[in-house]
Amino acid sequence: MGKKSLCLLISCALLSYFVYTPLPDNIEQPWKLMITWAVIRCGASLSGILEILGFPPYAVGYFFQVPPTSDANVTVTDTLFNKVPVRVFEPKQKSSTMRRAVFYIHGGGWTAGDARWITYDDLARQMVNKLDAVVISTNYRLSPQYHFPTQFEDVYDALRWFLRKKVLEEYGVDPARICVAGDSAGGNLAAGTTQKENNIRTKKERRNITEKTKRLRHRLLDDPEVKIKVKIQSLIYPALQTLDMDLPSYRENAYIPILLKYDMVLFWSLYFTSDKVLREAMLANQHTPVESNHLFKFVNWSTLLPERFQKGHLYTSPMHGPADLAKKFPGFLDVRASSLLADDSKLQGLPLTHILTCQYDVLRDDGLMYVSRLRAAGVQVVHEHVEDGFHGILSFSMSFKAGQRELNKYLKWLEENL
Ligand SMILES: *[C@@H]1O[C@H](CO)[C@@H](O)[C@H](O)[C@H]1NC(C)=O
Ligand SMILES: *[C@@H]1O[C@H](CO)[C@@H](O)[C@H](O)[C@H]1NC(C)=O
Repeated sequence: MGKKSLCLLISCALLSYFVYTPLPDNIEQPWKLMITWAVIRCGASLSGILEILGFPPYAVGYFFQVPPTSDANVTVTDTLFNKVPVRVFEPKQKSSTMRRAVFYIHGGGWTAGDARWITYDDLARQMVNKLDAVVISTNYRLSPQYHFPTQFEDVYDALRWFLRKKVLEEYGVDPARICVAGDSAGGNLAAGTTQKENNIRTKKERRNITEKTKRLRHRLLDDPEVKIKVKIQSLIYPALQTLDMDLPSYRENAYIPILLKYDMVLFWSLYFTSDKVLREAMLANQHTPVESNHLFKFVNWSTLLPERFQKGHLYTSPMHGPADLAKKFPGFLDVRASSLLADDSKLQGLPLTHILTCQYDVLRDDGLMYVSRLRAAGVQVVHEHVEDGFHGILSFSMSFKAGQRELNKYLKWLEENL
């Protein structure tokens, strides 16, 4: 064997070693996922190198951006809602009736992702085409430059800007048919902002009803102080809690692409701080102080997970971390970051909720537990569990059969329920 063929052989071996990732048997197109994952890792490494050279973090993401280009059916505009950049997708065809709307929040671990990414741009166009809806795809400032609650507040500000009579009229949107949706970190922000919106609304309504019912009940809807109620929230593999980083789904899927346990913990900790102390404590699952012990009941998987997802796992009481962590970084115990930490009274009155979970996803149990908590609080929930799904699957609808299948189901569900 010559030197050349030896080199080729070694290169091939190294390449397959780099690309090969063990995957569960029922994941379709496993090699495609391995290669996609290898490309993502290369992109992340390249971003890391660029960052050392002075570029902003996750610079490679810039190459996924597309300009706001209108097509035959959809008018696309980049604009600001309350100073927050959003991309608006409107059907071109005139309509004699008001349209429904989807307020969409992209994922990317609060550190990456953009409404201008081709995947999110494409998803929005598909929604417009399928639903004849107006789609608002919002951006928000990202970590590590900005930490919690900036991301939450940006999204909340944009949503509030949108949920006003005047703005809805301008876009021809029916105030009774609005959906707030997001995937992954965007699902986290969707759940958090919908909770806040719901609580402000119900508090105001309660006050208004007690104070003014007799005189003005029928005018309640015209009260500019009473927020427009979101009809549906849709949470696609959302991140909903930071308290327990050792849920069965974290144990089972720690090394499954697209989202490794290590990366999810990194994203969570970066959401709150760039200080590595929190990350280390979260990785050891020893970050919640003993004073916050009462919160563990909200994420107790031995009571909140359906039996089949508990199989093979032993529940042990949570371990505690030092008190100063939560004092320094209170965000990780904040309900605006962890929707599962809301008590039942705050969950009541939430709109019809669609939750999508994937079997091979560290965030699976966050979604499953929220399904249980919402149902117990009397909220109507539609739960879609993807048995052969991995994290991020809807963003891969162009390349994975399972992604296309789930996206079609998702659009059909919205078509029928929004
Ligand atoms: C526009 O809508 C028509 C009819 O639904 C469809 O056939 C066509 O592919 C759409 N064009 C684009 C660019 O999406
Ligand atoms: C979790 O639930 C189990 C019962 O299924 C209970 O024994 C345990 O004390 C609970 N843990 C916490 C921290 O609430």
